[in-house]
Amino acid sequence: MVERIMPEPFRIKMVESVRVPDKNEREEALKRAHFNMFGLRSQDVYIDLLTDSGTGAMSKQQWAALMMGDEAYAGADSYFHLKEAVKDILGFDYVVPTHQGRAAENVVFGSLVKKGDVIPFNMPFDTTRGHIFNNGGEPLDCVIDEAYRPEVQHPFKGNVDIDKLEAAIAKYGKERIPLVMVTITNNSGGGQPVSLENLRQVSDVCRRHGIPLFLDAARMAENAYFIKAREEACRDLSVAQILKATMDTADAITVSCKKDPLVNIGGMICSRTEELHNTFLPRVILFEGYATYGGLAGRDLEALAQGLREMVDEQYLAHRIGQVRYLGELLGEGGVPCVTPAGGHAIFIDAAAFFPHIPQSAYPADVLSIEIYREGAIRGIGLGALAFATPDETGKIIYPKLELYRLAINRRTYTNHHIQFVAQTIVDVYRRRDSVRYGLREGYSPALKGMKHFLVHLEPYDL
Ligand code: F0G
Repeated sequence: MVERIMPEPFRIKMVESVRVPDKNEREEALKRAHFNMFGLRSQDVYIDLLTDSGTGAMSKQQWAALMMGDEAYAGADSYFHLKEAVKDILGFDYVVPTHQGRAAENVVFGSLVKKGDVIPFNMPFDTTRGHIFNNGGEPLDCVIDEAYRPEVQHPFKGNVDIDKLEAAIAKYGKERIPLVMVTITNNSGGGQPVSLENLRQVSDVCRRHGIPLFLDAARMAENAYFIKAREEACRDLSVAQILKATMDTADAITVSCKKDPLVNIGGMICSRTEELHNTFLPRVILFEGYATYGGLAGRDLEALAQGLREMVDEQYLAHRIGQVRYLGELLGEGGVPCVTPAGGHAIFIDAAAFFPHIPQSAYPADVLSIEIYREGAIRGIGLGALAFATPDETGKIIYPKLELYRLAINRRTYTNHHIQFVAQTIVDVYRRRDSVRYGLREGYSPALKGMKHFLVHLEPYDL
């Protein structure tokens, strides 16, 4: 049953009109896009749930902060405002900005990883995985087994399996493991949280072996909110206190600030010691810009400093997490198979269960993207075989364990009515699922390891 909905804790001050393209326009748009959701123009879409990255609405305080940007090349006031906010909210003494999250990854992995290294993770996000490969390393998934079972209920499906982590350290040794990383929340596994208890255990293991622990902290405030709601020992702490305690487990974090920190562009690396911080600076200067702006304008740094303070607002988080859960509940009532429990930033539909008659080689998650766009001009994204299937050494295709379709909810952007429309549309597609009898094959396909689904052209064929 649908829980009590939380009304929006904001009112609308500036309006951006969106229109619903008619059925013919949608068909034309699909053809122009080669049936790839990344190929659609924004104006072809009514509700855009492609990503929650950089797509949120800034507050009036953030818009005001933009005007305070100090655009000095080095040592700008705006950098020091960011540094203060990082210290207050996250407790780190050192911060270097980057233009977005993957830029922070480029700097961290480029600075610390050498050929043959192994990086244990719960699960890395695609760009993180890519940067590890790019530097000759290999990520090793050590998430708990429940993460791979969409129907199983577990409060912290993003947790690291401590036995798997210990086994990895025993196998590869400290020499080949320059760092351990945990993604909070675990985007690739359905936006699922990691408990504070688990992070502390991971941190203890890392300390015992003298290996630094990094967090990919893009959705750290949502993770802290889940901890407050689900971890008995933390119930009486504020989200802000839990977030600080979460950060205390780590030596450093990379952040895509386009998510929880509520800005449209930006990233950062925060670290606890000057020594670690200094390790990153040469590469930041090479790829991003001088160490006090890292590829961002002074005004971006101001908006980010303000966003970091806003992201721990519990009314905002209750609405945000509640809105995502609401979508999950409406879909669940309509019988649509989803990853449960709902994640923090997105609902993931189990496309393999939605279209059991479409083989994984025919890309069911991407067929679902097309059908949901056809039905209601809503854009989500397939995260299954098209994105993750890779050939092994013999050329045999290894398919991912999960075939998911993601609806990522933009922060402070859509109302609960939009959410109802999304659910109705998808339930309508679900009711006619048996009549969807086609698969997709690749036309033009770029030779870009792990990044194919952004650019590939698709062609429907009858099954
Ligand atoms: N880490 C996580 C957990 C992410 O979800 C993302 C981006 C990144 C790192 C990279 O950050 O985009 O600022 O360079 N995720 C987006 C998404 C793109 O749609 O999930 P970025």
